Amino acid sequence: MKILDVDIVKAYIRMCSDGWEQGWHERNGGNLTYRLKKEEVEQCRPFFHAPGAWVKMGVSAENLAGEYFLTTGSGKYFRNVALDPEHSIGIVEVNKAGDSWRIIWGLEGGAKPTSEFPSHFMNHSVRAAATGGTYRVIYHAHPANLIALTYILPLTARDFTRALWQSATECPVVFPGGVGVVPWMVPGGSEIALATSKLMKEYDAVVWTHHGLFCSGPDFDTTFGLMHTIEKAAQIHVLALSAGQGKIRQTISADNLRAIAKEFGVTLREEFLN
Ligand code: 13P
Ligand code: ZN
Repeated sequence: MKILDVDIVKAYIRMCSDGWEQGWHERNGGNLTYRLKKEEVEQCRPFFHAPGAWVKMGVSAENLAGEYFLTTGSGKYFRNVALDPEHSIGIVEVNKAGDSWRIIWGLEGGAKPTSEFPSHFMNHSVRAAATGGTYRVIYHAHPANLIALTYILPLTARDFTRALWQSATECPVVFPGGVGVVPWMVPGGSEIALATSKLMKEYDAVVWTHHGLFCSGPDFDTTFGLMHTIEKAAQIHVLALSAGQGKIRQTISADNLRAIAKEFGVTLREEFLN
């Protein structure tokens, strides 16, 4: 038995490969973190090594004190995760103050958690608080069509949400809460982490202008599915605009969206429909 035989580690690696195969992770683009359940920590514990030094994150969250996270490494390629997990991903433990991490498995050869760990950490904090601890996955990717829309749509949650909901009939069922939009900011620090986590209090998915998308969820299937659904809707919108030379002849109306919500038992933000 190796740590790579533990089910949750296998599922995490599979999600990295799936993201790579979708074309969302050029070079070292994107990052994935997972907050381990207590029993999963115990399954992995026999393979932990002597802990590294505590490293401050520049952000803090009391509700994540003592938690353990699987994380991709900074500068590491999703393409390589399945081939070389020990150097590409790792497990970090968070201290009692909830403001520092230390490496206890993986990230071999001096690697560090993703440079977006502060954003992931703050997003975990607000999504865990909002869902009674159910949400465990934060996923950042660079899907091309969604990024393209940040050059042509007004940068508001309402404009993005409407365009995506109207691009495929099942979108309002998959993300009835819509998507938030962070304006262009320098990535990798505590400022963008705080701006993103503020929106993640309300939204499962947040767009980073001219950069990519953050998705959250309870498990890998749901979170990957959310990224996939949003990017596919963005692709349809880009295709329709391109083929129609910018003219949309007909679309799913606000009343159509209300009818979908009623039939599928979801609540859409009315302020995005008017
Ligand atoms: P990392 O390689 O540090 O994870 O950064 C990739 C990225 O997408 C930054 O936003
Ligand atoms: Zn990025």
